Amino acid sequence: MRNNQPVTQHEYDFPAADMLVSATDLSGNIKYCNPAFVEVSGYSREELIGQPHNLIRHPDMPSEAFGDLWTTIRSGRPWTALVKNRRKNGDHYWVRANVTPVIEHGKAVGYLSVRVKPGRDEVESVSKLYGRIRAGAMGSLGLREGALVRTGLAGNSGNCRACRWRHASRLAMRPARWRCLRPG
Ligand SMILES: Cc1cc2nc3c(=O)[nH]c(=O)nc-3n(C[C@H](O)[C@H](O)[C@H](O)COP(=O)(O)O)c2cc1C
Repeated sequence: MRNNQPVTQHEYDFPAADMLVSATDLSGNIKYCNPAFVEVSGYSREELIGQPHNLIRHPDMPSEAFGDLWTTIRSGRPWTALVKNRRKNGDHYWVRANVTPVIEHGKAVGYLSVRVKPGRDEVESVSKLYGRIRAGAMGSLGLREGALVRTGLAGNSGNCRACRWRHASRLAMRPARWRCLRPG
């Protein structure tokens, strides 16, 4: 796990109209980023292109989230969740990130991520959730495709009607994403 330092815990505000876009090869090396991504990252385009995407990793992000990200996109599925990223100067910015495989001739050739500004209430909830994950206090709860799910046999929440997983019900905290990825 890459531990980028220092961090200021000062949040950088970016325009809600911005979409921060990056594309990578299959190993997660940055091949493209749009001007909004460059601006918000605090790096120059030259410092970003060719670098592994964990260049902008914030140490407050639980590694479980990225484990879930890679499991999901390598299986050909899209991943959506809130991510706290570190700017070059140690400040941070929260995004709602969607990461999806880029398919050519039936084969994944890279990955594409589009990020937008999340709501403040989501940031507060997910920030607490990630703190609990980092503290190892999740019990039978885990992340699947960016959503909070019940991974063990404990509990009686029942299977989600839209997918095979057992979503947690009556949670003390809110999920990383608000709803099941799969339409009912
Ligand atoms: C298309 C794409 C976009 C990504 N965007 C981010 C991002 O915005 N922030 C981030 O920390 N990791 C992002 N990642 C995940 C990183 O590649 C990496 O797994 C993560 O930073 C954890 O790195 P580490 O486990 O080596 O510390 C992205 C990966 C892909 C494929």
